[in-house]
Amino acid sequence: MRNKITVVGAGQVGTTVAQLTAYKNLGNVVITDIVEGLPQGKALDLQESGCLQVFDGIITGTNDYKDTADSDIVVITAGIPRKPGQDRSDLIATNAKIVKSVTEQVMEHSKNPLIIVVSNPLDAMVYVAKRVSGLPSERIMGMAGVLDAARFRSFVSLELDCSLVDVDAMVLGGHGDSMVPMPRYTTVSGVPITDLMNKEQIDRLVDRTRKGGAEIVGLLKTGSAFLAPGASVVKMIEAILQDKKRILPCTVHLSGEYGWKDIFFGVPVKLGHAGIEEIIELKLLPEEMEQLNRSATDVQSQIKDVDNLLDG
Ligand code: LAC
Repeated sequence: MRNKITVVGAGQVGTTVAQLTAYKNLGNVVITDIVEGLPQGKALDLQESGCLQVFDGIITGTNDYKDTADSDIVVITAGIPRKPGQDRSDLIATNAKIVKSVTEQVMEHSKNPLIIVVSNPLDAMVYVAKRVSGLPSERIMGMAGVLDAARFRSFVSLELDCSLVDVDAMVLGGHGDSMVPMPRYTTVSGVPITDLMNKEQIDRLVDRTRKGGAEIVGLLKTGSAFLAPGASVVKMIEAILQDKKRILPCTVHLSGEYGWKDIFFGVPVKLGHAGIEEIIELKLLPEEMEQLNRSATDVQSQIKDVDNLLDG
């Protein structure tokens, strides 16, 4: 039987996720949105590209969550994006309500889905989905680290004029300005960039990575990034459905790892068929731990805001 992947939100990120999921033959795709006609139109258009791109998946567009029944994976992209000058945290009140309602409707029709959240502010929105769904921690995660690491990798390869393929990067922490790109764990063919670049270069690339989302928002003027975010989600879907056991930074529930409890936070995990199969704890230097704690404190305060919004 084919896997069923539901994408909530037929905006730019949702459409990119649906498209790449179909092109990679990962299963049947359901696109759902509150706007009538939008998911249906996008789904039909995508279905009609099937004989050209060569995929077998059935693509359905719908405004009714009944059509999402028994999904293996649900990707939540619903919510408003940032405007130039806005912080991801400016979206918290609106998007918390949207993610809550979406999660309730998803859970009405799928018993044990695996949920990947993309809506911002990411760490807080994964927490909303977890609180509302009650799903076990290994089945609920946010996409941020794969995207932030992809941005860091791109900047390293451009700076050193070397192939992207040889660059690996690690970015930890919340998906905000206090995220923690990790130069010691960012390598070109196994060589850490701390051996390949000077401090000015590294600091510049770290800063650009932290502000990577805002850089795109500033250029686009309306909407935020969608091609790299969409591709990042599909990397995670592929790792899960194909049980690849890939080690990728994802936003997951911490219960004591890295000294933090009851927050959702970006750390390296093993992704396979069961979802988050292992959380990997890196040995950090005191200054790296300090940066991570700062980011965790930011996330913790967003989670408190969300609790107040949901309880109030
Ligand atoms: C970004 C959004 C997806 O970083 O958070 O571009």
